Order: sequence, then structure tokens, then C-alpha cells
Amino acid sequence: AFMHEVMGLNVLEKQLQDTLHVDNIIIVPGNSDELNWVKQEMGKACVSFLEKHLTSRQTIAVTGGTTMAAVAEMMSPFHDNRASLFVPARGGIGEKEENQANTIAAKMARQANGSYRLLYVPDPLSETSYKTMIKEPAVIEVLKLIQGSDIVLHGIGDAITMARRRKTSETVIQKLQAENAVSEAFGYYFDADGNIVHKVRTIGLHMDDLSEPGPTVMTVAGGKSKAQAITSYFKQGKSDLLITDEAAAEAILRDN
Ligand code: BG6
Repeated sequence: AFMHEVMGLNVLEKQLQDTLHVDNIIIVPGNSDELNWVKQEMGKACVSFLEKHLTSRQTIAVTGGTTMAAVAEMMSPFHDNRASLFVPARGGIGEKEENQANTIAAKMARQANGSYRLLYVPDPLSETSYKTMIKEPAVIEVLKLIQGSDIVLHGIGDAITMARRRKTSETVIQKLQAENAVSEAFGYYFDADGNIVHKVRTIGLHMDDLSEPGPTVMTVAGGKSKAQAITSYFKQGKSDLLITDEAAAEAILRDN
């Protein structure tokens, strides 16, 4: 029965590769909307992929979110003591402390015996402070590490769910609805065709930094409720690997 299940997921992985046009897909059993351990299973898959592909002393940029927090929980030292440097992908974008990229980067570093650098950016950030802050030497230094990172680990969220979780103003929520925002990643909001319809103003990684020859991008997102969001992000968003769960995979394939 176990082998059967594994084979079944392999078939799903192949189908999802063709639908989303992603080179690598890993699907874990279950639905992370309902069971939190499914997020941890995605986390384990992410850590073992890193274990296989990480070379020495690489810089890993991470986003926030509950999925990335689960990846951090599963993080462990890489063999041969390959130390890594963890940095947040972007400054604060309205998450609770435990789900912030800074917190997650620090936790991953602790779990992996690596090191970390943090980005302290007020959240929300006005246009004027943004312009002043990006000139701060300490910010420039971390920004260089982020923009030169070898690996980016990120989550995907449902657009309106994320906007509400971030206590986004009604004006912005209305804008997102008017523009039919479907997904969110790194504080960018996308419509069903993958066009950017809104960005949270903060310092850090920009979508352009991901284009060729960019870092290796690893996406971790699952749960039936994220099916449309995942499809939307992959219309244009760069990713070399998607780690998802069975429920999201089945819903994506059903709708496409
Ligand atoms: C945010 C990340 O913090 O979390 C986003 O910046 C991601 O990239 C979101 O879309 C996902 O959150 P969760 O809790 O669904 O994993």
C-alpha cells in the first residue's frame, strides 16, 4: 500500500510539472490546511533537498509565513559542516513576530549551525523613510547579501488572506479586489495571469533579482486553499522547485 501511494504521488508530480512548467516538484501526502504536520513534512522535504544540493558557505534568503516557520523547525545541520548564512528576503511586511522573515532566518541558522544577518526595517515604511534607509551603510551591507543570495526559500499565500493577516488598509484591499489579486509572495501581489498588481513597500529582494542568472528559487506552499494562488504565482514567477502537498496538487490539476 505504501509503494502504491508513492507511485501515485510520482504520477501527480509529473502532471503538475507539465501544468505549472516547473522543473522539480515534490508532493507530500495530506492537506496542510487541515493538519499542521503536513507543513512539517514539506519542511522535511525542503531540508533534504538542501542537504543534497547545497554547496559550501552559501547564502540563503528566506521569507516569512507559517510554512517557512515549519521549514525552520525541521532544519538541521548539513553534513560536512557546510555552514550557511541565512538572511531575510525582505524587511517587515506585516507578519506576527514568529512568522517574520527575520525570526525565521535566525531560527534556521540556529538549527543548521549557520550564521545570520538581520534586516531591521520599520513596518510599514513611508516613501521618505524608505529613501533614507536604503542609504544606511548597515542596511546596504545586508541588502548586498540578500541580492547576492545563492538560494531563495519562499512561501506563497492567497492574496486576500495575506492582506487581511497583515492588517492591510481597506483602501489597499479594495485595490487588490478591483485588480483581481489571487496570490502573494515576498509582499508582491499577483493576478490570475501572474501580473504584479501591488507591492508592499519594504527593503530587500525584488522580483527582478530572481531573473536569470539569479539564485536557485525554492517554493514551499500547500493546502487546498492555496491551489489558485500557486497556479497564479507560477504563471510568471520564477521557481526551480515547488514543494507542495497532495490536496493542493489535486485541486490545481482539477482546475487547469
Ligand atoms: C509571507 C511571505 O510571510 O508568508 C510570503 O512573505 C508568503 O512569501 C506567506 O506568501 C505565506 O504564509 P503561510 O503562513 O501561508 O505560509
